Amino acid sequence: MIYFDNAATSFVKPKQVKNAVYEAVNKFTANPGRSGHYLAQQVASKIFDARESVKSFFNAKNHSLVFTKNCTEALNLAIFGVLKKGDHVITTAYEHNSVLRPLYELKSRGVEVTILEGELSDIQNELERQIKDNTKLVVTTMVSNVTGDVCDVKSVSKICKKYNVLYLVDGAQACGHMLIDLNCLDVDMFAFAGHKGLLSLTGVGGLFVKNGLNIKPILYGGTGTNSESLIQPTDEIEGFESGTVPSINIISLGAGVEYLKNNFSKILEKERKLNEYLHKKLKKLKFLTLYSSEKSKNVFSFNVLDYDSTAVASYLNEHFKICVRAGLHCAPLIHKKNKTLEMGAVRVSIDYNNSFEEIDYLVFALTQISSL
Ligand code: ALA
Repeated sequence: MIYFDNAATSFVKPKQVKNAVYEAVNKFTANPGRSGHYLAQQVASKIFDARESVKSFFNAKNHSLVFTKNCTEALNLAIFGVLKKGDHVITTAYEHNSVLRPLYELKSRGVEVTILEGELSDIQNELERQIKDNTKLVVTTMVSNVTGDVCDVKSVSKICKKYNVLYLVDGAQACGHMLIDLNCLDVDMFAFAGHKGLLSLTGVGGLFVKNGLNIKPILYGGTGTNSESLIQPTDEIEGFESGTVPSINIISLGAGVEYLKNNFSKILEKERKLNEYLHKKLKKLKFLTLYSSEKSKNVFSFNVLDYDSTAVASYLNEHFKICVRAGLHCAPLIHKKNKTLEMGAVRVSIDYNNSFEEIDYLVFALTQISSL
């Protein structure tokens, strides 16, 4: 089996993550932040450590970290937590439905939405032209989950600062595949998934929120704090993490991030070489329409002749045991831009566990398919 679906979720978890999960299932199953007993305190301390590990991995000196169930929930928290009727929000055609659907829901409630149609890697000028007096928020992905295109987050962040507009970054596909320094990028909010490049179990993600930025929670309930108050407390992180948190998933995220910290330069160097090799090989295939470039980060999409993308993915799965994703990847507007709304695209997404030989075998399989 060859796994090229790392943009959906990473498949190979390091043994450090597996061991942390095993230990957590055995020892850390009490409810943190509620009861005051020793077992509960132990779990609370593990969650504290995981939060600190993640914050230091992202050099988040000026941000708080709210754990969520996944990146979608983190993006919903940021979007619904900030925007209100009459506000204007700007985003790009590269966004996932986890950004587009909350924004379109808010559009039906009186928020103005502008979609930038230009190239993600060079979106700054178009963005600057669209900012208006009521522009409250800009949302961009850092890496497209369809093409692997990379946004120049630092430049977008500078424009947002210049016009006093908040900036939310969807880091789902970027995390674990590039160095991300939140102190340097200076974005207002940054959402991520744990189970992709950060190598955790599914069921945990997070939102970094710049200190001093007041957002509204989207989930109301017990926090283990201020229990006498019927009003949701929002002055502490617990106010945004109502209900029992997924402790084991959070602990696995802490372990994933620690693994990355200890191996990051090696991982990034291998992924750089794999990206280069994969792009060079795909580019040479004349029967292929490639929607990614040499700058794409770990994600490459294409079509074979005029074959439907799901048929190609099924053939790769059944005849070559190669796992890829096809269709629209929950990001319809980039497919509209690329004129692939009908046929979708085949997506190959790699991580450091892949090899050059696997890429060669993919090229062999695609060549076979093209001659059917
Ligand atoms: N958002 C994930 C993907 O792109 C699931 O496949």
